Amino acid sequence: MSYTRRETGRGIGGAAASAPGPSIAPSAGTHLMPGASTSRITLKPGYSQMDWMRRSKRENLRGDDGDRDGESWKTRVIDDEELGRHATRDDCWIALRGRVYNLTGYVDYHPGGEKILEQTYGKDATALFDKYHKYVNGEYIMAATQVGIRPGYVPDSDSE
Ligand code: HEM
Repeated sequence: MSYTRRETGRGIGGAAASAPGPSIAPSAGTHLMPGASTSRITLKPGYSQMDWMRRSKRENLRGDDGDRDGESWKTRVIDDEELGRHATRDDCWIALRGRVYNLTGYVDYHPGGEKILEQTYGKDATALFDKYHKYVNGEYIMAATQVGIRPGYVPDSDSE
């Protein structure tokens, strides 16, 4: 498999920060207008994307198994077998565009909910990620949780 660089840069959620129309008070974690078609769920208070970004700056979200040795997460190659060993709600890793992330801490912050993520635990989630929201900057949101890379992945020298 080859991994191509993609342009990102639409901010945290990737979507527009405000919608046209009358001013409304948004509920936690959503910017959508009432009546808009969506599979977003209502997140618990304190679980917005901003809350996540704040938390990911403070805590080690790679987990013990992903943070064994300083900066090993940049180069540690994780094969299918190891990825597949992290496939439960309490210990879930996913691969996205050649990098492997510990998703465990993010699940409660995911605007699309927990249920839909389950099928991707311990697997490569790139196709489903792109199906639902190619525009979301997953690499940025998940940066603090990276535990390794996939076989064949060559990190960009300017993005590490
Ligand atoms: C790295 C992992 C992921 C991150 C950081 C992430 C992030 C996000 C964000 C920021 C949104 C809100 C999008 C918006 O504001 O329009 C969202 C919504 C959503 N996500 Fe994810 N996501 C991830 C993985 C996935 C995966 C693997 C799936 C599918 C299996 C998925 C399915 C959805 C769905 C269905 C929504 C709701 C879309 C809507 O109807 O508005 N996500 N996600």
